[in-house]
Amino acid sequence: MSDTTARVPVQFAQLTGRSILDSRGYPTVEVRAMLEDGTRMIAAAPAGASTGEHEAVERRDHGRAYDGRGVHGAVAAVDGEIADLITGRSWDRLVDIDSALAGLDGTGSYARLGANAVVAVSIVAARAFAHTAGAQLHQWIAEQTNSAQRLPVPHFNVLNGGVHAANALDFQEFMIAPVGAATEEHAVQTGAEIYHALAGLIRERFGSAGLGDEGGFAPQIEDPRMALDLLVDAITTAGYTPRVDQVAIALDPAANSFYLGDGRYRVNGLEFGRDQLVDYYLDLIGSYPIRSLEDGFAEDDLDGWTAMATAADGRVQLVGDDLYVTDPARIRDGAEHGYSNAVLIKPNQIGTVSQTFDAIRTARDAGMVCMVSHRSGETADTFIADLVVGSGVGQIKSGAPARGERVAKYNRLTEIETDHPDLPYGLA
Ligand code: PGA
Ligand code: ZN
Repeated sequence: MSDTTARVPVQFAQLTGRSILDSRGYPTVEVRAMLEDGTRMIAAAPAGASTGEHEAVERRDHGRAYDGRGVHGAVAAVDGEIADLITGRSWDRLVDIDSALAGLDGTGSYARLGANAVVAVSIVAARAFAHTAGAQLHQWIAEQTNSAQRLPVPHFNVLNGGVHAANALDFQEFMIAPVGAATEEHAVQTGAEIYHALAGLIRERFGSAGLGDEGGFAPQIEDPRMALDLLVDAITTAGYTPRVDQVAIALDPAANSFYLGDGRYRVNGLEFGRDQLVDYYLDLIGSYPIRSLEDGFAEDDLDGWTAMATAADGRVQLVGDDLYVTDPARIRDGAEHGYSNAVLIKPNQIGTVSQTFDAIRTARDAGMVCMVSHRSGETADTFIADLVVGSGVGQIKSGAPARGERVAKYNRLTEIETDHPDLPYGLA
Protein backbone atom coordinates (compact mmCIF):
# COMPACT_ATOMS: atom_id res chain seq x y z
CA MET A 1 0.00 0.00 0.00
CA SER A 2 1.49 3.32 -1.01
CA ASP A 3 1.57 5.84 1.78
CA THR A 4 2.77 9.31 0.98
CA THR A 5 1.35 10.84 4.16
CA ALA A 6 3.93 11.95 6.69
CA ARG A 7 4.04 9.16 9.25
CA VAL A 8 2.72 10.66 12.42
CA PRO A 9 1.99 7.78 14.78
CA VAL A 10 -1.45 7.48 16.29
CA GLN A 11 -1.99 6.74 19.96
CA PHE A 12 -5.33 5.72 21.39
CA ALA A 13 -5.97 6.56 25.04
CA GLN A 14 -9.39 4.90 25.08
CA LEU A 15 -11.52 2.67 22.91
CA THR A 16 -15.06 1.71 23.90
CA GLY A 17 -18.03 0.05 22.25
CA ARG A 18 -21.72 0.71 22.62
CA SER A 19 -24.91 -0.85 21.29
CA ILE A 20 -27.01 1.60 19.26
CA LEU A 21 -30.03 1.12 17.00
CA ASP A 22 -29.67 0.90 13.25
CA SER A 23 -32.24 2.18 10.73
CA ARG A 24 -34.30 -1.03 11.04
CA GLY A 25 -34.45 -0.70 14.82
CA TYR A 26 -32.00 -3.52 15.50
CA PRO A 27 -28.78 -3.16 17.47
CA THR A 28 -25.46 -2.40 15.86
CA VAL A 29 -22.00 -1.56 17.18
CA GLU A 30 -20.82 1.99 17.74
CA VAL A 31 -17.15 2.53 18.65
CA ARG A 32 -15.82 5.60 20.38
CA ALA A 33 -12.14 6.44 20.55
CA MET A 34 -10.18 9.06 22.41
CA LEU A 35 -6.67 9.82 21.22
CA GLU A 36 -3.76 10.72 23.49
CA ASP A 37 -4.25 14.38 22.48
CA GLY A 38 -7.83 14.25 23.79
CA THR A 39 -9.55 14.21 20.37
CA ARG A 40 -12.64 12.02 20.23
CA MET A 41 -14.01 10.20 17.25
CA ILE A 42 -16.82 7.81 16.59
CA ALA A 43 -17.87 5.17 14.02
CA ALA A 44 -20.72 2.71 13.61
CA ALA A 45 -21.19 -0.55 11.72
CA PRO A 46 -23.99 -0.97 9.15
CA ALA A 47 -25.83 -4.28 8.67
CA GLY A 48 -27.05 -6.08 5.55
CA ALA A 49 -30.23 -8.11 5.08
CA SER A 50 -29.58 -9.73 1.71
CA THR A 51 -26.07 -10.77 2.64
CA GLY A 52 -23.66 -12.81 0.55
CA GLU A 53 -22.67 -16.29 1.71
CA HIS A 54 -18.99 -15.34 1.95
CA GLU A 55 -19.25 -12.06 3.86
CA ALA A 56 -17.30 -11.33 7.04
CA VAL A 57 -19.44 -12.62 9.91
CA GLU A 58 -21.34 -10.35 12.29
CA ARG A 59 -21.49 -11.34 15.93
CA ARG A 60 -25.01 -11.47 17.37
CA ASP A 61 -25.99 -12.51 20.90
CA HIS A 62 -28.72 -14.98 19.86
CA GLY A 63 -30.45 -14.35 23.17
CA ARG A 64 -34.03 -13.27 23.83
CA ALA A 65 -33.44 -9.56 23.30
CA TYR A 66 -34.09 -8.06 19.86
CA ASP A 67 -35.00 -11.42 18.28
CA GLY A 68 -31.50 -12.65 19.00
CA ARG A 69 -29.90 -9.70 17.23
CA GLY A 70 -28.28 -8.08 20.28
CA VAL A 71 -24.61 -7.09 19.98
CA HIS A 72 -23.45 -7.16 23.59
CA GLY A 73 -20.84 -9.82 22.79
CA ALA A 74 -19.39 -7.69 19.99
CA VAL A 75 -19.39 -4.61 22.25
CA ALA A 76 -17.65 -6.60 24.99
CA ALA A 77 -14.98 -7.61 22.47
CA VAL A 78 -14.33 -3.91 21.72
CA ASP A 79 -14.14 -3.00 25.41
CA GLY A 80 -11.96 -5.98 26.26
CA GLU A 81 -9.64 -7.74 23.81
CA ILE A 82 -9.69 -5.08 21.10
CA ALA A 83 -9.09 -2.13 23.46
CA ASP A 84 -6.26 -4.11 25.09
CA LEU A 85 -4.69 -4.64 21.68
CA ILE A 86 -5.01 -1.08 20.42
CA THR A 87 -4.62 1.30 23.35
CA GLY A 88 -1.39 2.09 25.17
CA ARG A 89 0.97 1.89 22.18
CA SER A 90 1.54 3.90 19.03
CA TRP A 91 0.58 2.84 15.52
CA ASP A 92 2.28 3.98 12.31
CA ARG A 93 -0.20 2.70 9.75
CA LEU A 94 -3.86 1.68 9.61
CA VAL A 95 -2.91 -1.57 7.91
CA ASP A 96 -0.94 -2.53 11.04
CA ILE A 97 -4.05 -2.11 13.19
CA ASP A 98 -6.21 -3.97 10.68
CA SER A 99 -3.72 -6.83 10.42
CA ALA A 100 -3.50 -7.03 14.20
CA LEU A 101 -7.32 -7.23 14.38
CA ALA A 102 -7.32 -10.09 11.87
CA GLY A 103 -4.61 -11.86 13.87
CA LEU A 104 -6.42 -11.38 17.17
CA ASP A 105 -9.65 -12.70 15.68
CA GLY A 106 -7.98 -15.72 14.14
CA THR A 107 -10.96 -17.09 12.19
CA GLY A 108 -10.37 -15.50 8.77
CA SER A 109 -13.95 -14.18 8.80
CA TYR A 110 -14.01 -12.09 12.01
CA ALA A 111 -16.60 -14.51 13.37
CA ARG A 112 -15.00 -14.60 16.83
CA LEU A 113 -14.64 -10.89 17.59
CA GLY A 114 -17.49 -9.97 15.23
CA ALA A 115 -17.13 -8.18 11.90
CA ASN A 116 -19.59 -5.61 13.27
CA ALA A 117 -17.07 -4.80 16.04
CA VAL A 118 -14.04 -4.93 13.74
CA VAL A 119 -15.36 -2.69 10.95
CA ALA A 120 -16.38 0.04 13.40
CA VAL A 121 -12.95 -0.11 15.06
CA SER A 122 -11.22 0.05 11.68
CA ILE A 123 -13.30 3.06 10.59
CA VAL A 124 -12.66 4.92 13.84
CA ALA A 125 -8.96 4.16 13.39
CA ALA A 126 -9.04 5.54 9.83
CA ARG A 127 -10.55 8.75 11.24
CA ALA A 128 -7.77 8.86 13.83
CA PHE A 129 -5.05 8.57 11.18
CA ALA A 130 -6.63 11.28 9.03
CA HIS A 131 -6.94 13.56 12.05
CA THR A 132 -3.36 12.93 13.12
CA ALA A 133 -2.14 13.60 9.57
CA GLY A 134 -4.06 16.90 9.61
CA ALA A 135 -6.15 15.82 6.60
CA GLN A 136 -9.83 15.53 5.82
CA LEU A 137 -10.85 11.87 5.76
CA HIS A 138 -11.45 11.86 1.99
CA GLN A 139 -8.05 13.47 1.37
CA TRP A 140 -6.30 10.94 3.57
CA ILE A 141 -8.10 8.10 1.73
CA ALA A 142 -6.97 9.56 -1.61
CA GLU A 143 -3.37 9.45 -0.41
CA GLN A 144 -3.69 5.96 1.01
CA THR A 145 -5.21 4.59 -2.19
CA ASN A 146 -3.16 6.72 -4.55
CA SER A 147 -6.32 8.06 -6.19
CA ALA A 148 -7.50 11.22 -7.92
CA GLN A 149 -10.49 12.47 -5.92
CA ARG A 150 -13.88 12.64 -7.61
CA LEU A 151 -17.46 13.40 -6.59
CA PRO A 152 -19.54 10.32 -7.46
CA VAL A 153 -22.76 9.80 -9.39
CA PRO A 154 -25.31 8.92 -6.71
CA HIS A 155 -27.58 5.95 -7.41
CA PHE A 156 -30.84 6.64 -5.58
CA ASN A 157 -32.85 3.53 -4.75
CA VAL A 158 -36.40 4.84 -5.15
CA LEU A 159 -38.40 1.62 -5.62
CA ASN A 160 -37.76 -1.26 -3.22
CA GLY A 161 -38.63 -4.95 -3.46
CA GLY A 162 -37.05 -8.30 -2.63
CA VAL A 163 -36.18 -8.87 1.02
CA HIS A 164 -36.11 -5.09 1.63
CA ALA A 165 -39.86 -4.63 1.20
CA ALA A 166 -43.17 -6.32 1.98
CA ASN A 167 -44.49 -6.14 -1.59
CA ALA A 168 -44.36 -8.90 -4.22
CA LEU A 169 -41.66 -7.31 -6.40
CA ASP A 170 -38.84 -9.84 -6.84
CA PHE A 171 -36.16 -7.35 -7.86
CA GLN A 172 -34.68 -5.66 -4.81
CA GLU A 173 -33.58 -2.22 -6.05
CA PHE A 174 -34.64 0.19 -8.79
CA MET A 175 -32.25 3.14 -8.81
CA ILE A 176 -32.01 6.43 -10.67
CA ALA A 177 -28.56 7.86 -11.45
CA PRO A 178 -28.18 11.52 -12.54
CA VAL A 179 -25.17 10.75 -14.74
CA GLY A 180 -25.56 13.99 -16.70
CA ALA A 181 -25.73 16.34 -13.70
CA ALA A 182 -23.14 19.09 -13.57
CA THR A 183 -22.42 18.90 -9.86
CA GLU A 184 -23.12 16.72 -6.82
CA GLU A 185 -25.57 19.31 -5.57
CA HIS A 186 -27.44 19.19 -8.88
CA ALA A 187 -27.41 15.38 -8.80
CA VAL A 188 -28.93 15.35 -5.32
CA GLN A 189 -31.59 17.86 -6.37
CA THR A 190 -32.38 15.74 -9.44
CA GLY A 191 -32.74 12.61 -7.32
CA ALA A 192 -34.98 14.33 -4.77
CA GLU A 193 -37.23 15.93 -7.41
CA ILE A 194 -37.72 12.59 -9.18
CA TYR A 195 -38.41 10.92 -5.82
CA HIS A 196 -41.15 13.48 -5.15
CA ALA A 197 -42.60 13.06 -8.65
CA LEU A 198 -42.62 9.30 -8.09
CA ALA A 199 -44.46 9.78 -4.78
CA GLY A 200 -47.16 11.71 -6.66
CA LEU A 201 -47.53 9.06 -9.37
CA ILE A 202 -47.74 6.29 -6.79
CA ARG A 203 -50.42 8.17 -4.86
CA GLU A 204 -52.40 8.56 -8.09
CA ARG A 205 -52.07 4.96 -9.25
CA PHE A 206 -51.89 2.96 -6.01
CA GLY A 207 -53.45 5.25 -3.43
CA SER A 208 -50.50 4.84 -1.09
CA ALA A 209 -47.38 2.77 -0.75
CA GLY A 210 -45.18 1.66 2.09
CA LEU A 211 -41.47 2.27 2.16
CA GLY A 212 -38.72 -0.32 1.89
CA ASP A 213 -35.67 -0.54 4.14
CA GLU A 214 -33.67 1.91 2.03
CA GLY A 215 -36.37 4.59 1.90
CA GLY A 216 -37.64 3.77 -1.59
CA PHE A 217 -41.36 3.28 -2.20
CA ALA A 218 -42.75 -0.25 -2.10
CA PRO A 219 -46.03 -0.18 -4.05
CA GLN A 220 -47.92 -3.40 -4.84
CA ILE A 221 -46.16 -4.09 -8.12
CA GLU A 222 -45.03 -7.54 -9.20
CA ASP A 223 -43.78 -6.97 -12.72
CA PRO A 224 -40.33 -5.33 -12.98
CA ARG A 225 -41.48 -3.71 -16.24
CA MET A 226 -44.24 -1.88 -14.40
CA ALA A 227 -41.67 -0.58 -11.93
CA LEU A 228 -39.43 0.57 -14.79
CA ASP A 229 -42.35 2.31 -16.53
CA LEU A 230 -43.10 4.11 -13.30
CA LEU A 231 -39.49 5.26 -13.01
CA VAL A 232 -39.42 6.57 -16.58
CA ASP A 233 -42.69 8.45 -15.94
CA ALA A 234 -41.31 9.94 -12.73
CA ILE A 235 -38.12 11.10 -14.47
CA THR A 236 -40.06 12.86 -17.25
CA THR A 237 -42.73 14.22 -14.86
CA ALA A 238 -39.93 15.88 -12.88
CA GLY A 239 -38.66 17.47 -16.10
CA TYR A 240 -35.59 15.31 -16.69
CA THR A 241 -34.55 13.03 -19.55
CA PRO A 242 -34.50 9.28 -19.05
CA ARG A 243 -31.36 8.37 -20.97
CA VAL A 244 -28.17 6.53 -20.02
CA ASP A 245 -26.13 9.74 -20.23
CA GLN A 246 -28.76 11.91 -18.49
CA VAL A 247 -30.86 10.26 -15.78
CA ALA A 248 -30.04 6.57 -16.07
CA ILE A 249 -31.59 3.58 -14.33
CA ALA A 250 -29.66 0.98 -12.33
CA LEU A 251 -31.03 -2.35 -11.11
CA ASP A 252 -30.02 -4.62 -8.27
CA PRO A 253 -32.25 -7.68 -8.63
CA ALA A 254 -30.21 -9.39 -5.86
CA ALA A 255 -30.83 -12.68 -7.63
CA ASN A 256 -29.79 -14.88 -4.68
CA SER A 257 -33.26 -14.18 -3.29
CA PHE A 258 -35.16 -15.60 -6.30
CA TYR A 259 -32.73 -18.35 -7.30
CA LEU A 260 -34.28 -21.81 -7.32
CA GLY A 261 -30.98 -23.64 -7.87
CA ASP A 262 -29.71 -25.52 -10.94
CA GLY A 263 -29.61 -22.35 -13.06
CA ARG A 264 -33.33 -21.66 -12.53
CA TYR A 265 -34.95 -18.45 -11.29
CA ARG A 266 -38.48 -17.27 -10.49
CA VAL A 267 -39.41 -13.68 -11.38
CA ASN A 268 -42.94 -12.28 -11.41
CA GLY A 269 -44.41 -15.76 -11.08
CA LEU A 270 -42.52 -17.10 -14.11
CA GLU A 271 -39.68 -19.59 -14.10
CA PHE A 272 -36.57 -18.78 -16.13
CA GLY A 273 -33.55 -20.84 -17.08
CA ARG A 274 -30.29 -18.88 -16.97
CA ASP A 275 -30.27 -18.25 -20.73
CA GLN A 276 -33.88 -17.07 -20.60
CA LEU A 277 -32.94 -14.72 -17.76
CA VAL A 278 -30.06 -13.35 -19.85
CA ASP A 279 -32.57 -12.66 -22.65
CA TYR A 280 -35.00 -11.10 -20.21
CA TYR A 281 -32.32 -8.70 -18.91
CA LEU A 282 -31.16 -7.86 -22.45
CA ASP A 283 -34.75 -7.08 -23.33
CA LEU A 284 -35.06 -4.72 -20.35
CA ILE A 285 -31.74 -3.09 -21.21
CA GLY A 286 -32.97 -2.59 -24.79
CA SER A 287 -36.27 -1.05 -23.64
CA TYR A 288 -35.19 1.21 -20.76
CA PRO A 289 -32.18 3.47 -20.11
CA ILE A 290 -30.47 0.94 -17.82
CA ARG A 291 -26.77 1.59 -17.25
CA SER A 292 -26.02 -0.90 -14.50
CA LEU A 293 -27.18 -4.37 -13.42
CA GLU A 294 -26.01 -5.70 -10.04
CA ASP A 295 -26.29 -9.32 -8.92
CA GLY A 296 -28.44 -10.27 -11.90
CA PHE A 297 -27.46 -13.87 -11.16
CA ALA A 298 -26.99 -15.80 -7.94
CA GLU A 299 -23.54 -15.86 -6.35
CA ASP A 300 -23.29 -19.63 -7.03
CA ASP A 301 -24.50 -19.46 -10.62
CA LEU A 302 -21.17 -18.64 -12.22
CA ASP A 303 -22.39 -19.95 -15.58
CA GLY A 304 -25.18 -17.36 -15.41
CA TRP A 305 -22.66 -14.58 -14.77
CA THR A 306 -20.49 -15.73 -17.66
CA ALA A 307 -23.45 -16.02 -20.03
CA MET A 308 -24.63 -12.52 -19.15
CA ALA A 309 -21.17 -10.95 -19.50
CA THR A 310 -20.71 -12.61 -22.89
CA ALA A 311 -24.14 -11.58 -24.15
CA ALA A 312 -23.93 -7.99 -22.84
CA ASP A 313 -20.45 -7.58 -24.32
CA GLY A 314 -19.65 -4.43 -22.33
CA ARG A 315 -22.91 -2.62 -23.23
CA VAL A 316 -23.98 -2.43 -19.60
CA GLN A 317 -22.20 -2.26 -16.27
CA LEU A 318 -22.44 -5.64 -14.54
CA VAL A 319 -21.78 -5.27 -10.82
CA GLY A 320 -20.81 -8.11 -8.49
CA ASP A 321 -22.01 -7.66 -4.90
CA ASP A 322 -22.86 -10.98 -3.22
CA LEU A 323 -20.60 -12.53 -5.86
CA TYR A 324 -17.43 -10.77 -4.61
CA VAL A 325 -18.32 -9.57 -1.08
CA THR A 326 -15.55 -6.92 -1.42
CA ASP A 327 -12.96 -9.71 -1.19
CA PRO A 328 -9.77 -9.03 -3.21
CA ALA A 329 -9.25 -12.75 -3.92
CA ARG A 330 -12.79 -13.22 -5.19
CA ILE A 331 -12.54 -10.03 -7.28
CA ARG A 332 -9.29 -11.27 -8.86
CA ASP A 333 -10.97 -14.57 -9.65
CA GLY A 334 -13.95 -12.75 -11.17
CA ALA A 335 -11.67 -10.65 -13.37
CA GLU A 336 -9.86 -13.76 -14.62
CA HIS A 337 -13.11 -15.53 -15.48
CA GLY A 338 -14.83 -12.40 -16.84
CA TYR A 339 -17.88 -12.64 -14.57
CA SER A 340 -18.44 -8.88 -14.49
CA ASN A 341 -16.88 -5.53 -15.29
CA ALA A 342 -17.71 -3.85 -11.97
CA VAL A 343 -17.49 -4.46 -8.23
CA LEU A 344 -19.66 -3.28 -5.35
CA ILE A 345 -17.61 -2.04 -2.38
CA LYS A 346 -19.01 -2.48 1.14
CA PRO A 347 -16.44 -2.22 3.95
CA ASN A 348 -18.38 -4.42 6.37
CA GLN A 349 -18.49 -7.30 3.86
CA ILE A 350 -14.72 -7.74 4.12
CA GLY A 351 -14.22 -6.39 7.65
CA THR A 352 -11.58 -3.65 7.62
CA VAL A 353 -10.81 -0.40 5.83
CA SER A 354 -7.38 -1.65 4.68
CA GLN A 355 -8.95 -4.69 3.03
CA THR A 356 -11.52 -2.38 1.43
CA PHE A 357 -8.66 -0.34 -0.06
CA ASP A 358 -7.15 -3.61 -1.33
CA ALA A 359 -10.44 -4.55 -2.95
CA ILE A 360 -10.62 -1.21 -4.77
CA ARG A 361 -7.01 -1.49 -5.92
CA THR A 362 -7.52 -5.07 -7.07
CA ALA A 363 -10.56 -4.07 -9.12
CA ARG A 364 -8.77 -1.09 -10.61
CA ASP A 365 -5.69 -3.16 -11.55
CA ALA A 366 -8.00 -5.63 -13.28
CA GLY A 367 -9.70 -2.87 -15.27
CA MET A 368 -12.97 -3.14 -13.35
CA VAL A 369 -14.88 -0.12 -12.05
CA CYS A 370 -16.26 0.16 -8.50
CA MET A 371 -19.43 1.42 -6.87
CA VAL A 372 -19.26 2.20 -3.13
CA SER A 373 -22.34 1.09 -1.18
CA HIS A 374 -24.22 1.46 2.08
CA ARG A 375 -26.14 -1.47 3.64
CA SER A 376 -29.88 -1.81 4.02
CA GLY A 377 -29.40 -1.41 7.78
CA GLU A 378 -27.58 1.89 8.30
CA THR A 379 -26.63 4.53 10.84
CA ALA A 380 -25.72 8.20 10.57
CA ASP A 381 -22.06 7.27 9.96
CA THR A 382 -20.84 8.87 6.71
CA PHE A 383 -17.57 6.99 6.17
CA ILE A 384 -18.64 5.68 2.75
CA ALA A 385 -19.10 9.23 1.43
CA ASP A 386 -15.46 10.04 2.19
CA LEU A 387 -14.45 6.63 0.86
CA VAL A 388 -16.08 7.17 -2.52
CA VAL A 389 -14.64 10.67 -2.97
CA GLY A 390 -11.17 9.71 -1.74
CA SER A 391 -10.92 6.58 -3.87
CA GLY A 392 -12.25 8.47 -6.89
CA VAL A 393 -14.34 5.54 -8.15
CA GLY A 394 -17.16 7.83 -9.31
CA GLN A 395 -20.26 5.89 -8.18
CA ILE A 396 -22.13 5.41 -4.92
CA LYS A 397 -25.45 3.94 -3.82
CA SER A 398 -26.90 5.02 -0.50
CA GLY A 399 -30.62 4.45 -0.87
CA ALA A 400 -33.39 6.97 -1.44
CA PRO A 401 -32.84 10.74 -1.22
CA ALA A 402 -34.88 10.62 2.00
CA ARG A 403 -34.52 9.28 5.58
CA GLY A 404 -31.76 10.46 7.86
CA GLU A 405 -29.38 7.51 7.56
CA ARG A 406 -29.50 7.70 3.73
CA VAL A 407 -29.28 11.49 3.30
CA ALA A 408 -26.44 11.68 5.84
CA LYS A 409 -24.19 10.27 3.08
CA TYR A 410 -25.57 12.47 0.28
CA ASN A 411 -25.32 15.53 2.53
CA ARG A 412 -21.71 14.66 3.33
CA LEU A 413 -20.99 14.48 -0.41
CA THR A 414 -22.39 17.96 -1.00
CA GLU A 415 -20.49 19.20 2.06
CA ILE A 416 -17.25 17.95 0.52
CA GLU A 417 -18.24 19.67 -2.74
CA THR A 418 -18.94 22.92 -0.90
CA ASP A 419 -15.49 22.77 0.69
CA HIS A 420 -13.76 21.63 -2.52
CA PRO A 421 -15.67 23.12 -5.46
CA ASP A 422 -12.89 22.19 -7.89
CA LEU A 423 -13.38 18.44 -7.52
CA PRO A 424 -14.80 16.91 -10.70
CA TYR A 425 -18.27 15.28 -10.62
CA GLY A 426 -19.26 12.19 -12.54
CA LEU A 427 -18.40 8.66 -13.59
CA ALA A 428 -14.69 7.87 -13.50
P1 PGA B 1 -28.04 -5.51 1.97
O1 PGA B 1 -28.50 -5.13 0.50
O2 PGA B 1 -27.36 -4.36 2.59
O3 PGA B 1 -29.32 -5.90 2.64
O4 PGA B 1 -27.11 -6.70 1.81
C1 PGA B 1 -27.81 -4.25 -0.32
C2 PGA B 1 -27.46 -4.86 -1.65
O5 PGA B 1 -27.82 -6.02 -1.95
O6 PGA B 1 -26.79 -4.21 -2.43
ZN1 ZN C 1 -26.63 -5.82 -4.01
